[in-house]
Amino acid sequence: MKEKQLIYEIKYLSTNKDELVLNETVFHNANGYIGIRSNFEEGYPEGFDSIRGSYINGFYDFAEMKQAEKLFGLVEEKQTMLNVADSQTIRIILDDEEFNMFEGTTLESKRWLDMANGYTGRKIVWRSPNGKIVEIVIKRMTSFYQLSLFTIEYSVTALNFDGEVRFVSSHIGEVMNYSNPNDPRVAGESFKHLLPTVAKIEEGASYLTSHTSRSGLSVCTGVKNILSKECSMHTSIEEHSSTSTFDTSIVKNETIVLTKYTVFSDSIRHKDCESHAMKEMEMALSVSLATIYGYQTEYLNKYWDNCFLDIDGDDDLSLAVSYNMYQLIQSVGKDEYSNIAAKGLSGEGYEGHYFWDTEMYIQPFFTLTNPSVAKNLIEHRYTILEAARDNAKILGHKKGALYPWRTIMGKECSGYFPSGSAQYHINGDIAYSVISYYLATKDIDFIASKGAEIIFETARLWIDAGNFYNGRFRINEVTGPDEYTCMVDNNYYTNASAQYNLQWASNFYYLLKSTGKLCAIESKINLTEYEVKEFERAANFMYLPFDDKLKINPQDDSFLSKAVWDIENTPKDKFPLLLHYHPLYLYRHQVCKQADTVLAHFIFEDAQSLDTIHNSFKYYEKVTTHDSSLSTCIFSIVASKLGLEDEAYGYFGDSAKLDLFNTHKNTKDGIHTANMGGSYMAIVYGFAGLRLKESGLYFAPTLPKIWTGYRFKVNFEGSQINVQVKENQSTFTLINGSKKQIYVYGKEYELKDTITIMK
Ligand code: BGC
Repeated sequence: MKEKQLIYEIKYLSTNKDELVLNETVFHNANGYIGIRSNFEEGYPEGFDSIRGSYINGFYDFAEMKQAEKLFGLVEEKQTMLNVADSQTIRIILDDEEFNMFEGTTLESKRWLDMANGYTGRKIVWRSPNGKIVEIVIKRMTSFYQLSLFTIEYSVTALNFDGEVRFVSSHIGEVMNYSNPNDPRVAGESFKHLLPTVAKIEEGASYLTSHTSRSGLSVCTGVKNILSKECSMHTSIEEHSSTSTFDTSIVKNETIVLTKYTVFSDSIRHKDCESHAMKEMEMALSVSLATIYGYQTEYLNKYWDNCFLDIDGDDDLSLAVSYNMYQLIQSVGKDEYSNIAAKGLSGEGYEGHYFWDTEMYIQPFFTLTNPSVAKNLIEHRYTILEAARDNAKILGHKKGALYPWRTIMGKECSGYFPSGSAQYHINGDIAYSVISYYLATKDIDFIASKGAEIIFETARLWIDAGNFYNGRFRINEVTGPDEYTCMVDNNYYTNASAQYNLQWASNFYYLLKSTGKLCAIESKINLTEYEVKEFERAANFMYLPFDDKLKINPQDDSFLSKAVWDIENTPKDKFPLLLHYHPLYLYRHQVCKQADTVLAHFIFEDAQSLDTIHNSFKYYEKVTTHDSSLSTCIFSIVASKLGLEDEAYGYFGDSAKLDLFNTHKNTKDGIHTANMGGSYMAIVYGFAGLRLKESGLYFAPTLPKIWTGYRFKVNFEGSQINVQVKENQSTFTLINGSKKQIYVYGKEYELKDTITIMK
């Protein structure tokens, strides 16, 4: 991979509030376990609305969710990802002048993210009001090798003076989450979730432990500072914070470096998180920082090699896609206690909750490039299967499991059920991800031990949620992916994904039976062949709405009877509509927040003719605002399938640049991880036409006009395949593993070494 594509850099840092808070997200550091927003170490002037945060994936407290009317089964308590201790703060005092970018003169500055070596940097050449010039270089890393570890390497060089320098490094345990009562996409209330318990200093490191107020969890952070030069040093603890002060002198052209190590531990993963934090600190200090940087590079070398993707002819977009892929590995949970949140670990939007984003937008990327991560995501869903069974009961179901629409530890967290708990398609999405994982890996043992149980229990739920009427199996009163159309009968996407879920419940039943792997799961959940026949019947007779006049699949039974929203004449400042119109007003119109039927046409493309898909695409394109970040990537993929090259490229561009260009204007609250997976999909599933089917691996490559080529690697059944697309030809190379049958433009080929196919 070309080095230049893996560095994202901003020159000349402004002190504009909006830009700074945005860059706190864009340059955050994370490793799937911890995430630290990129706040300025030195802090901000009074009244500056920075979102200063450090998060642990899956670490939460319960928070009250008031329902004005106490209807049965409404969610009254949610989980919220907590901002844990702040260890970012470092202040520098040169004689008696304190460095900060809001005073004095910034002579030079830049900020960068090095995605090959896994760290972010900030460099400032600053002249103090009294004329002292210093160069400050700060490197920050959350280690992929030691997931608990966050490091800051803070270098100060005196450029034109000799004098005294003081480093003041803080570790602050009393922190709160960010809230905004006017935005439904972040927490509305502020509450003190963490209650301090222990604060102590051991071997020069400070350890702060807190309990959550309601979830019964604990978190411990440890901080150790090391200065590169002899100094007088003092560490104190006050009110659940610790401050270390280092006084020394500096001479012209001398560089002094403060290295700050922070370790995080929590009681979900470690019973005694305090002693675990101490062990982690010991481990971090047992090797040099250079060695830790080395491990980081090694980890990322492997990562980039597995998910290699490069575009020739568009460096900007290529960089944007690399940025997105980097954020996915930064965000994805690496253990069974965590998944990938809608905003990763970059901010507090959606409160650290896991949605269907994982299965439909992110897992496809990992399934093809890093199947063990995909498997881990399914394992997490498996750990909350019992909670999903409980959730089904709350919603009145007699059998099966209903996954919560948004959650951390398994309980439903949707405050507003019409566009939350009613999104039953989450069950079909999770089933889809298990099936895709199987199709890509043929890992039947995993299906036998965990995957099938998910598939059978979600299938059971459909049987309980739907019913036969006039010979068809129908699913009423649900919400599909489009959150501007709620509580409808027979949402096409939901019915199609339920059908797929039910069919595969039957497929897996017979597959496991024929391989002698059925017994354990059959007896564990009392599954009978009679029930499997029921699954088949519901799947075979699933009602999929079709409109004879328009020759499209209506989004649901009532969608086409509604008034069409005038998108073109809606003032620009009224988007996203959800912030300006009452939900009922939206629901009464044909207006879509995001791809819904169009998404179904991508994942269940064989269910409809190409003409129907084309008509639907054109129809929904006119009534979709793309107010959700999960939309344009899907329109791009389906446009590619339909040969609509300009549309495909346009939608792809919108998707790829969404966070770097802050096009949804809310990146300050966190990155949009689903869209990031989606922009990868727009290339691999869209332009290259990849599909995973029961019959094998399919490609139908196309080349966007302004590119000269693109290349990527995928993993299929344990073999790695390199795909190179150029004008009029594509080359497939088996890099390792056994030979594979692949389909290109519908024709079957045996891939033993390299084949080149002309278009
Ligand atoms: C979208 C959902 C998505 C959620 C989290 C919402 O705006 O409509 O489909 O799951 O964001 O990303």
